[in-house]
Amino acid sequence: MTGHFKAIRPVRKLAHKDEEARRVYHEADVVIVGAGILGCAIAVALGNQGRSVILLERSLKEPDRIVGELLQPGGVAALEKLGLRDCLDDIDAVKVSGYDVIYYGEEVRIQYPANAVTGGEEVSVEKSRTDEMRGMKRKRPEGRSFHHGRFVKRLREKAMQNANVTVVEAAATDLVRCSYTDKILGVEATVGGQPDSFFGDLTIVADGYASKFRKEFRKDLPVARSKFWALELIDARLPMPNHGHVILGDGAPVLLYQIGTHETRALIDVPENLPSASVAAGGIKGHLRNVVLPSLPEMVRPSFELALDSDKLRSMPCSWLPPTTNKAPGIIMVGDAMNMRHPLTGGGMTVALNDAVLLSELLSVAAVPTLDDTKLVLKQMRDFHWQRKGLTSVVNILAQALYSLFAADDLQLKSLQMGCFRYFQLGGNCVDGPSGLLAGIIRKPFVLFYHFFSVALYAIWIYITSAGLASVPLRLVRSPGIFWKACTVLFPYIYSELQS
Ligand SMILES: Cc1cc2nc3c(=O)[nH]c(=O)nc-3n(C[C@H](O)[C@H](O)[C@H](O)COP(=O)(O)OP(=O)(O)OC[C@H]3O[C@@H](n4cnc5c(N)ncnc54)[C@H](O)[C@@H]3O)c2cc1C
Ligand SMILES: *[C@@H]1O[C@H](CO)[C@@H](O)[C@H](O)[C@H]1NC(C)=O
Repeated sequence: MTGHFKAIRPVRKLAHKDEEARRVYHEADVVIVGAGILGCAIAVALGNQGRSVILLERSLKEPDRIVGELLQPGGVAALEKLGLRDCLDDIDAVKVSGYDVIYYGEEVRIQYPANAVTGGEEVSVEKSRTDEMRGMKRKRPEGRSFHHGRFVKRLREKAMQNANVTVVEAAATDLVRCSYTDKILGVEATVGGQPDSFFGDLTIVADGYASKFRKEFRKDLPVARSKFWALELIDARLPMPNHGHVILGDGAPVLLYQIGTHETRALIDVPENLPSASVAAGGIKGHLRNVVLPSLPEMVRPSFELALDSDKLRSMPCSWLPPTTNKAPGIIMVGDAMNMRHPLTGGGMTVALNDAVLLSELLSVAAVPTLDDTKLVLKQMRDFHWQRKGLTSVVNILAQALYSLFAADDLQLKSLQMGCFRYFQLGGNCVDGPSGLLAGIIRKPFVLFYHFFSVALYAIWIYITSAGLASVPLRLVRSPGIFWKACTVLFPYIYSELQS
């Protein structure tokens, strides 16, 4: 098959950049698999640089998914850098100015910071030209929440409008390898039921969480300890409009955020093998009705109950997949195909869009004149792996560590969870720091460690002082256990970020 296609390939380089080369001969500088968040963004960025791009997507219908519905301010800023800011217009998107964390009915507001101060040092929020970001003194940064499919549709339109990008409805089925050098030359795909092939100097795989090609390049699998089950609430009343809601209590966390004028997304984390969601206990519906519903703020319950009766239940795994360096010649994996973190903090699209910005800089025509310069591309990919960490290690570690605390299932984690909430209640930098990290605005892993261990020490302080005098000695003896727990929560994720 491969040989056949190579045989009929025209003399390369001649019409290499043309639309005709892409349409008729299926040849381009870059073949991208997957027109999701990252695929579209990088297609437009490379097209703008004058690269010839083929973008393959298995279904060009407007996606109907429960993922990627809240974009953090750091993602909005990346969209703007890519010239794609207007993809947030006319999709009935809702402004997000922070989070409302509700802990056993007590509320604390986590607003995105105007200026984040860390241990005395000022971290200036990244310069940006968006309305939301302009004049940080007056206005705080904003995120946006929306229907995922509407946003992706806008991104795909941008790719289609770009004269240097050809979008094809095609499902990639296999990689085309050079039999001599093992370099990836492109992909085989199914187009309208027929087998076909597409060739590029570089193949970019952005085929999402269930990536078909990931296993060819790494042995480890994504790890999912829980699933998010989803409902769409109609005209829900929320305690704090224009905020994401995180509801904490005895069980795993529940998220609520408006995704349109009338629609609100509820995401309910359900850990594996949860007894109250077992078949005997009435399955997932039983769990949502008997355990989750009563734990929600009263004003939300009517719309939640209605959705429970009428909406189809859907779920997605909450996966963890640490990043790895792309080392294979001719191909790079990006987005969820390469790196995933728990969706609790809504960081995936912010990572994807910032990765598109960084990648387009590292692969610019000035940096890499021709993309078939495999050695140079791989060198740039090593830089990519380390340079992206300022943002991505923060988002990855924060998501995983916060999930451990918010889904606390033992006494030590429960203490840390309570410490975290009480820490937020202190306000000032105890809110600005964490919310700046969450927003994708503060890109310093050290700031994350600082706040995490501040929370741990504060949790220990509360644990020791909240009991009667008589139990102080016992609690003093037990408190190192809480600190140790905090270390076991954080260190494995730090370690994974230090891997190449
Ligand atoms: C439950 C849940 C909630 C989430 N909520 C948020 C949130 O609120 N905010 C946030 O920022 N992130 C969120 N995320 C993460 C976010 O959805 C992802 O990080 C992001 O979509 C990744 O972008 P991507 O381009 O890598 O993949 P995707 O956006 O999934 O795009 C992959 C594309 O590839 C296509 N494709 C797949 N296979 C093939 C093939 N063989 N051939 C051709 N095309 C193919 C797919 O059709 C799809 O269009 C959530 C994730 C989950 C699981
Ligand atoms: C397409 O590429 C050419 C160079 O090949 C460039 O001059 C042009 O600006 C690009 N078009 C778009 C829409 O970015």
